[in-house]
Amino acid sequence: MSSDSGRADLVEQIRECKACGLCELMPFKPIPGVGPLSAQIVVVGEAPGHDESVIEEPFVGLAGRMLDRLFAESGIDRSQVFICNTVNCRPTDTGKKNRPPKKTEIDACKHWLFKQIKLVKPKIVFTLGKVPTSTILSLKPTVKLGDYLGNEHTAKTNTRSYLTTSSYHP
Ligand code: URA
Repeated sequence: MSSDSGRADLVEQIRECKACGLCELMPFKPIPGVGPLSAQIVVVGEAPGHDESVIEEPFVGLAGRMLDRLFAESGIDRSQVFICNTVNCRPTDTGKKNRPPKKTEIDACKHWLFKQIKLVKPKIVFTLGKVPTSTILSLKPTVKLGDYLGNEHTAKTNTRSYLTTSSYHP
């Protein structure tokens, strides 16, 4: 199977996922990652917000504009980065306010994140905030994000290891 057909299959499976029930609250489907499979960097956020759920793409709202600034300041071309989220649906109870994803939602969704990382095979996984950092590094909920910021760690997906580094969520 080529990487492209692997991606198409994975995107279709993610779009049809109903595992945590979040998609039933909103009139949209889960949002897979975007970017080239050749990307050397994968950026992982927490979950889509309102704008992302309307446009159906990760990091296109306010947080996306802040991420763009971070990329510009670091000399990184956004089009060369694969950008995805830990949870692929917008966590909300009312449709008005975003809320952090629950553990059950993270647990139901994280295998999609690991499958996307496995497909891209990046050199670096850059996690934005506590949810993606603790998911990628399998940290206990009691750990402090501050202890992990800017440091390099190694995470493993099945047979492959990759470098991770973390920042606050924009
Ligand atoms: N915040 C995230 O973590 N992901 C997005 O896609 C948008 C905002």
